[in-house]
Amino acid sequence: MCGIIGYKGSKNASEIVIEGLKKLEYRGYDSYGFAIKQNNSFEIIKEVGKIHKFNKELPKSNIAIAHTRWSTHGSVTKENAHPHVYNNIAIVHNGIIENYQELKNKLKNHEFKSETDTEVIAHLIGESNLPFEQAFKETIKQLDGTFAILAINKDSDQILAARKGSPLVIGIKDNDYFIASDIPAFLKHTNKVLFLEDDEIAVINDKIKISNIYTNKEIKRKPMEISWSIEEAEKNNYPHFMLKEIHEQADIIEKINQKRVLNNEILFSNLNLTENEIKNIKRIVLVACGTSWHSALIAEFMFEELLKIPTEVEYASEFRYRDPILDENTLVIPISQSGETADTLAALREAKSKGAKIVSLVNVHGSTIERESDSTIHLDAGPEIGVASTKAFTSQLTMLYYLTIYFGKVRNILPLQQIENRIRDIKLIPNLIRSILNNGKEVLECADKYYLKKNALYLGRGINFPIALEGALKLKEVSYIHAEGYPAAEMKHGPIALIDNEMPVFFIATKDNRTYKKVISNIEEVKARGGIIISIATIGDKEIRELSDFTMYIPETSYILTPILASIPMQLLAYYIAVKKECDVDQPRNLAKSCTVE
Ligand code: F6R
Repeated sequence: MCGIIGYKGSKNASEIVIEGLKKLEYRGYDSYGFAIKQNNSFEIIKEVGKIHKFNKELPKSNIAIAHTRWSTHGSVTKENAHPHVYNNIAIVHNGIIENYQELKNKLKNHEFKSETDTEVIAHLIGESNLPFEQAFKETIKQLDGTFAILAINKDSDQILAARKGSPLVIGIKDNDYFIASDIPAFLKHTNKVLFLEDDEIAVINDKIKISNIYTNKEIKRKPMEISWSIEEAEKNNYPHFMLKEIHEQADIIEKINQKRVLNNEILFSNLNLTENEIKNIKRIVLVACGTSWHSALIAEFMFEELLKIPTEVEYASEFRYRDPILDENTLVIPISQSGETADTLAALREAKSKGAKIVSLVNVHGSTIERESDSTIHLDAGPEIGVASTKAFTSQLTMLYYLTIYFGKVRNILPLQQIENRIRDIKLIPNLIRSILNNGKEVLECADKYYLKKNALYLGRGINFPIALEGALKLKEVSYIHAEGYPAAEMKHGPIALIDNEMPVFFIATKDNRTYKKVISNIEEVKARGGIIISIATIGDKEIRELSDFTMYIPETSYILTPILASIPMQLLAYYIAVKKECDVDQPRNLAKSCTVE
């Protein structure tokens, strides 16, 4: 939700912030702006639209800040775009200032140019008689809400940064400093980073000084090196990040396999849980949003079926409003690609306050969810830039699978032979994904045939039900086709009324000895009512082809791993339909990659 970047150093700051902002566009893409420091003045440029289309040259400078917006307060206009300026001060902000109205009311006779919650920050700093750094600090102390803020002053060569609840990371290359919402913004220049924590401010001059806003205590923190490569944050030769990220999945799972398994032993050395603690887990609660919530639903199958641990899956946004019952024998697993989703973070805090152990699954290093968890399993998916989550989803499923086997071993519930078989199964997955991707023709044909439909239903049972939800979510978010996922058997309790000969119904109907036959009956029910049947089936299943208007095949794997394979055609289909409809695949309307507001 909004991306910010600032630069101070020996290079041309304008070029660096333009380039960096383009990398942050996934966080917000309705308008953008720059403040370039020129001697003792600012060059302010604001535009409505998407930053990647910006091709003007900006004046050279060594200090600049910039912002790409996902609007919360105030519509999409140049006036509401950041930076906001008052007197000598220019600022950019990611987050929400909850008490902005109250603060504005105190500033008598001030004329505000925008409808934003942010502008008041510039006014508070700009009207203060204190030196810049102190005025900044005093202002930050007055703010309620969430923020990552960068401020510059016409009369100073500093960039000041503050964070509470919104991400802010500082890249360091010799005496050049990059301060941004996310690492890809400056990864081209450096992978040496420092994460700013809540209630900290950074003063960036010829060097960098971090201190706690309330205690003033200086904080010495060593930069760390991030293993993400530049290629991972670029489209390379793909037309969209989404397609690139779909294609990366086989390699990512292969790398996870290499990292997590040694001689049939599962490695989770950084897991901050003793064997006894693992043995004492009486209940698991998974909290997440969106696609990450779908992987939690699949994990429920893994934990209950293989570990026999009672497991619940909660919408993170609802969790804390129910006064959930938790104790030290409950393991709470927040799942989040970004590690910054405000609802997931709030659920984590609720669980922590009630004494539960927290092991999170997070992709982005140094995120708030990571920092507040007892331990974190990194997804190792590399930067996910496409707004629709794809590779993070299958990495989550892979990690949850490994965690299940690991717990199964520690709790002595999975026999050795089964562990070996399950490791063998997951090691086959990368090549099976490759085979689906190499046979993408079917999916393309399917997209060609149905892309003009206005609605779609996605149905599945058992472990394929979450894939029905995920398939529907992918389609609606990137192609704007209204789509719903249901457990196939629920259809007769209402949604069946929607079936007519205009309604495509996607059945995730892979072969198993649990629900397959029942799904076939559900297909018959839809067929009898004239619905269009599109099936995702197991290679070799001729019966389903007979019943379906269109069939896409995936290879056979174990029941628990089927969702990883079944998700690939779902992702590709949503992608190709969106491309045919000329939708903005990587930046769907109204969406932001990480929702840092509740
Ligand atoms: C869907 C999607 C969202 C996210 C959700 C949670 O493609 O990307 O539904 O899954 O906003 O985000 P994270 O995983 O970052 O917490």
